[in-house]
Amino acid sequence: MSSVDRVGGDQLLIENLNFSYGNLTIFNNLNIVVEPGEFVSIIGPSGCGKTTLLNLLSGFLKPIAGKVLLRGKALVPEDPHFGYVFQHATLFPWLSTVENVEFGMKMEGKLSASEQRKKSKHYLAMVGLKGFEDYLPMKLSGGMQQRVSLARALVMEPRLLLMDEPFGALDAITREQMNDELLVLWDKLGQTVVFITHDIDEAVYLSDRVLLLNRPPQGIFKDQKIELPRPRSSKETRTSDLFWEYKKELMTDILEVSKSEVIA
Ligand SMILES: Nc1ncnc2c1ncn2[C@@H]1O[C@H](COP(=O)(O)OP(=O)(O)OP(=O)(O)O)[C@@H](O)[C@H]1O
Ligand SMILES: [Mg+2]
Repeated sequence: MSSVDRVGGDQLLIENLNFSYGNLTIFNNLNIVVEPGEFVSIIGPSGCGKTTLLNLLSGFLKPIAGKVLLRGKALVPEDPHFGYVFQHATLFPWLSTVENVEFGMKMEGKLSASEQRKKSKHYLAMVGLKGFEDYLPMKLSGGMQQRVSLARALVMEPRLLLMDEPFGALDAITREQMNDELLVLWDKLGQTVVFITHDIDEAVYLSDRVLLLNRPPQGIFKDQKIELPRPRSSKETRTSDLFWEYKKELMTDILEVSKSEVIA
C-alpha cells in the first residue's frame, strides 16, 4: 500500500445496551451512534464504565440485552473488526519492534512473510519509528513503545480503533506530541475511533464529539460536539477561545457528575 491509502471507518451503533457485573448494573439502556470515520472520546469519573464499554465494543464482554452493531451487523468474535491500544504498551519483550507489529498478521496467516515484514515496516515508519525495527521494547522510551502499540493495531487495518487511555502514562509534552501524530494518522487513514481518556484537554483537542459518562447505570450525561476547525495544531487550537470554552463547560459537567456521587 502507499502511505496515503485510506482504510476508512464503519458506523458503530450501540442500541439499548444493558450490562451488569453480577448485581452491579453498569449500563441500563445505553444508546450511542458513532458515524463512519468519526473520532469520539469518552470521559467520566473512575469506575463509570469506560473500559467496560470498550470491552463490550470489542466483543470481549457480552451485553445482557441490547446490541452492538458495526456497519449494521452484529459483532462476530472471530472477525478481527477492531484495533485496540491499551494504556500500557503490551508488547512481547522478547520480540523486536517489527516482530511485535507483524505478530497479528502472522497469527492471521493471510500474507506471506515478506509481505508481513514490508507492511510492518511501513506502519512503523508511519508512526515515526523508521530505523528502530530491530530494537527490543526495553530499549525504547514509553512514547516509542506506545507508537509500536499503535502501529501494531493499525497494521491490521481495522475500520474501528478502540483506545483506552493510550497516552495516560506519558509525560505532558510527549502526550501532546502523540496527540498530534495520532491526528495526522487518523486524517490519512479515516478510521472510526473510540478514545477513552481522563484528560479533558486531550478529549477536546482530538475529538469530533466528547461523551461524558455519568455514574453507573445513568449512562451519558453530556454529548458534546466539538466544532474546532481541522486540521488542528497545538499552537493554534489549544490556545483558541473556543477550545477554552469547551474545556470549561466539560470541567463544570465533570464536577457536577462528581458532586452527584458525593451526595448519592
Ligand atoms: N470484572 C469485573 N467484575 C466485577 N466488577 C467489575 C469488573 N470490572 C469492572 N468492574 C466494576 O465495574 C465498574 C466500571 O469499571 P470500569 O473498569 O469499566 O471503569 P472505568 O470507567 O474504566 O474506570 P477507570 O477510569 O478507573 O479506568 C467499577 O465499579 C468496577 O469496579
Ligand atoms: Mg478504565
